[in-house]
Amino acid sequence: MFRKIALALLIVFIALQFYRPDKNTAEGDVVAAFEAETMPNAAVKTILRQNCYDCHSNNTIYPWYAEVAPISYTIANHVEEGKEHFNVSDWSQWEVKKKDHKLDELIEEVEEGHMPESSYTWLHGSMSEADVETLISWAKEARTKLK
Ligand code: HEC
Repeated sequence: MFRKIALALLIVFIALQFYRPDKNTAEGDVVAAFEAETMPNAAVKTILRQNCYDCHSNNTIYPWYAEVAPISYTIANHVEEGKEHFNVSDWSQWEVKKKDHKLDELIEEVEEGHMPESSYTWLHGSMSEADVETLISWAKEARTKLK
């Protein structure tokens, strides 16, 4: 009985592997316009790359376990939802008002510890206090320079 259940589960698991969600991997520098206007320094760029761009740009750097279903489905969902709310690769298409609003939300989300999502930090690690402060002061500064 037990072996039959285990075997059935194994078959389901293998079958799941045949469906692969589309990858979010656009060519080129998908954060160029965003970074040109918000001017993150090298430290801030690293923070954004390590903590945010995977879900908020058109280019995700996938870990090996993203190849394994059903984790692959979960990751695809988070990336899709994250981009729906805030995709820095669309930056140049936004009015100043929207840019300002998104940076305001960024500050709020990071201050409250809601971003990066916990589903992400348990494998990627959390941001340090210092990184949180660095990111917030960059975003505040960037808001004053929008045009
Ligand atoms: C694992 C994917 C993931 C990562 C990594 C991530 N986010 Fe998000 N983010 C989401 C999802 C999903 C939403 C939409 C749901 C929500 O608001 O919780 C979101 C929402 C947001 C919003 C709100 C936008 C709006 O219009 O409401 C902002 C701003 C944001 N994230 C900024 C960040 C920043 C800054 C980082 C890095 C410090 C980050 N996120 C890391 C997935 C992610």
